[in-house]
Amino acid sequence: MATKSIQCICPVCAETIQVSGNNCPKCRGAVILNKRYLLVGALGQNKGMTWLAWDLQNKQNVVIKELSVHKLASWKEQELFQREMQILQQLDHPGIPKFIDDFFIGESRRQIFYFVQEHLEGNNLKEEMKGTRFTEKQVLNILLSLLEILLYLQNLRPPVVHRDIKPSNIIRKQDGTLALIDFGAVVDIFRTGDQGSTVAGTFGFMAPEQLFGRAGLESDLYGLGMTAIVLLCRLQPEEMIDASFKINWDRQKSLSEPVKSLLKKMISQTASERPSPEDAIALVKQTLKMLDNPQLALQSAKPESIQVNAEYDKDFKARLGVGVAISLATILVFVLVVVFSFFLS
Ligand SMILES: Nc1ncnc2c1ncn2[C@@H]1O[C@H](COP(=O)(O)OP(=O)(O)O)[C@@H](O)[C@H]1O
Ligand SMILES: [Mg+2]
Repeated sequence: MATKSIQCICPVCAETIQVSGNNCPKCRGAVILNKRYLLVGALGQNKGMTWLAWDLQNKQNVVIKELSVHKLASWKEQELFQREMQILQQLDHPGIPKFIDDFFIGESRRQIFYFVQEHLEGNNLKEEMKGTRFTEKQVLNILLSLLEILLYLQNLRPPVVHRDIKPSNIIRKQDGTLALIDFGAVVDIFRTGDQGSTVAGTFGFMAPEQLFGRAGLESDLYGLGMTAIVLLCRLQPEEMIDASFKINWDRQKSLSEPVKSLLKKMISQTASERPSPEDAIALVKQTLKMLDNPQLALQSAKPESIQVNAEYDKDFKARLGVGVAISLATILVFVLVVVFSFFLS
């Protein structure tokens, strides 16, 4: 432990303290976790605490998620937390924080699990949206980045469903690229075989099937679609609910037709009608092109009428050709008749 005093949070009494030794000056509890980590600030408090911590060994910030057994409402919560640990350990993608360490302290009901991951410098999109008015193009680019991550997760064997995609679980790193965090609700569907029969996720971002504990690969497409809607409308899902509890998003803001049509597909109530990440990537790229060239949007909005017009055009030209030929022939006959009658007379 460094001799100079450091401000941190005591993991035992949760007080903010100045510490220069191994023990809390207030409660005398051990402040260094696993001989290596000092808690320096709270990042979140959801199913368990999420801490910003300092790694004394590698001299870097890390994120530590904590789960106290005695605070658990159910064993299911512990299962979710341990699942997050297991799954994060096997993930390797620049858009997902790297797993660093896991450990626990205490015993039985007083046991506390800790799980350490890479700290990504940057803000999450919920924070970013407070000071940013996202354009449609920016949101489509966010979708592209996240769809690449979903493609990676879905191509794993077994595939991984995140189940809690929303702005606060997406971080914009300092190089501008995006990362998906908080795999606490994750399920790898083919291993568990139960399609994740727990209800885990966030209301408003959860696909209808998730409410019945049936998260599938398509559920993340719904969460991502709702995320895009929230970023564009600058309203939380519950603020867009109408009298019949429908999320009335497309009336909230004047969104362009191509964007509306893409988002409608992504948040389709029927899971099988949502596009796969590959198809969604193609759709987003197509939508981006339409925003650059509104003429394309017009064509795709009225494909039938344009085809009919093209057919009509061909037909019209053919008829015009026949008409001109008949007229020319008539004129020729008329001229011949006039010439013949002149010579005969
Ligand atoms: N790896 C990370 N790097 C940087 N910030 C993080 C990281 N993990 C979490 N955070 C921040 O902490 C907040 C809460 O963490 P999260 O994993 O989403 O837990 P929960 O939502 O269960 O509280 C996130 O919204 C994010 O701002
Ligand atoms: Mg979260």
